[in-house]
Amino acid sequence: MSAQIIDGNALSQQVRAEVAARTAALKAQGKTPGLAVILVGDNPASQVYVRNKVKACGDVGFHSVLEKYEATMSEAELLARVEALNNDPSIHGILVQLPLPKHIDDHKVIEAISPAKDVDGFAVESAGALMVGEQGFKACTPYGCMKMLESIGMKDLRGKHAVVIGRSNIVGKPMAMMLLQANATVTVCHSGTADLAHHTRQADVIVAAVGKRNVLTADMVKPGAVVIDVGMNRNDEGKLCGDVDFDGVKQVAGWITPVPGGVGPMTITMLLVNTMESAER
Ligand code: GUN
Repeated sequence: MSAQIIDGNALSQQVRAEVAARTAALKAQGKTPGLAVILVGDNPASQVYVRNKVKACGDVGFHSVLEKYEATMSEAELLARVEALNNDPSIHGILVQLPLPKHIDDHKVIEAISPAKDVDGFAVESAGALMVGEQGFKACTPYGCMKMLESIGMKDLRGKHAVVIGRSNIVGKPMAMMLLQANATVTVCHSGTADLAHHTRQADVIVAAVGKRNVLTADMVKPGAVVIDVGMNRNDEGKLCGDVDFDGVKQVAGWITPVPGGVGPMTITMLLVNTMESAER
């Protein structure tokens, strides 16, 4: 039997249509959601990401500004731009694309963003709010994974065992918190885990977020499990692939997300959701 596919493109379209409708309602009240995206330097991958983010804003009717700066920009100059955007009433979300050039302290810049505009959900206050179950912006990639689970009727995970592979601040840790909040029993595995397969074989939901190919293979998956693949890697032929051995695991899993066309599109979609909610607040 082959797993059912959770189509991130289709779900994104559906969620973005809802965002567009809510945006139209906000605009009728004289308020347009606004996102500012800051890119420092000329990292080619970052250029593609920010272009996609700005385009997505236009598609749902947001106001967006893209500020591009030379890699030589000083930290003080960047902090001054963030502060100006914090005080700009037409801007509801601020995103500073990472990575930043080495002479700039990422942490300092992210912390300079007002928590009310931290639509990436990367700041300590946003992470803390998630931890204690208070209102704050949720990191977009794990938030998108939760939306995908919800789309297959798994909003409440009471009685389910979820295994997260990876413990990054951007995906693994907030993912574990969101799964916990949805009542799952959560195990977080990482490079220090002794027997990964022992844990994944017991999981009803597996989220792979390591950044390495074939971290999860068919023999590591319980029949019928839901497998969410956050990985973005290249195979030997240069083709985009995830952390999961898709062809093998889809023979065992109940549901699986593809790469590309899975979690990827959901990340930008949830950025739009966060920005719209910021404007609504
Ligand atoms: N770099 C790679 N992904 C992201 C993201 O989601 N947000 C920001 N700010 N930088 C990134």
